[in-house]
Amino acid sequence: MVVFILFCLWLYVILQAETKMEKEEIYQQLVTELQTIIEGETDMIAIMSNVAAEIHQTMKFWWTGFYRVKEGELILGPFQGPIACMHIAYGKGVCGTAWKKAETIIVPDVEQFPGHIACSSQSRSEIVIPVFNNKKEVIAVLDIDSEHLATFDETDKKYLEEICSLIPTLA
Ligand code: SME
Repeated sequence: MVVFILFCLWLYVILQAETKMEKEEIYQQLVTELQTIIEGETDMIAIMSNVAAEIHQTMKFWWTGFYRVKEGELILGPFQGPIACMHIAYGKGVCGTAWKKAETIIVPDVEQFPGHIACSSQSRSEIVIPVFNNKKEVIAVLDIDSEHLATFDETDKKYLEEICSLIPTLA
């Protein structure tokens, strides 16, 4: 019995490590592809459109898109997935909070995040990454939703931040 439990534990650890490795490899390839797609392009909407599409298609998330900072609020930008809220105030929801704090926020369970804005009842977990300009000001956020709980971890944070840093900011 003890041997069986130890075997199950070992199998669990191996499978977890393989899943993490697989995710790392997928993200590394995604970063390379996006570098090629973005290179030479200067139009922000064109870039954000293809970044959202490529992440969404590759990672099979529920909703992937940008909100841009415009006239003191966040306005819906290029996205993939169901329709979403078009305006988000500074400091409101996960997106407005990531903008205010100027840092990535991982939400394992959206129902536990005070003030979470539910654009879709299907969304269960979320990650929001700020996009900075050269002056370190937040000019947009990348918002990704999953219909599963606790989808996002430090690996997602690391690579999605790298992807956001690829976006050439003209502001
Ligand atoms: N849930 C976000 C709102 C945007 S949608 O998820 C697309 C928030 O709380 O800011």
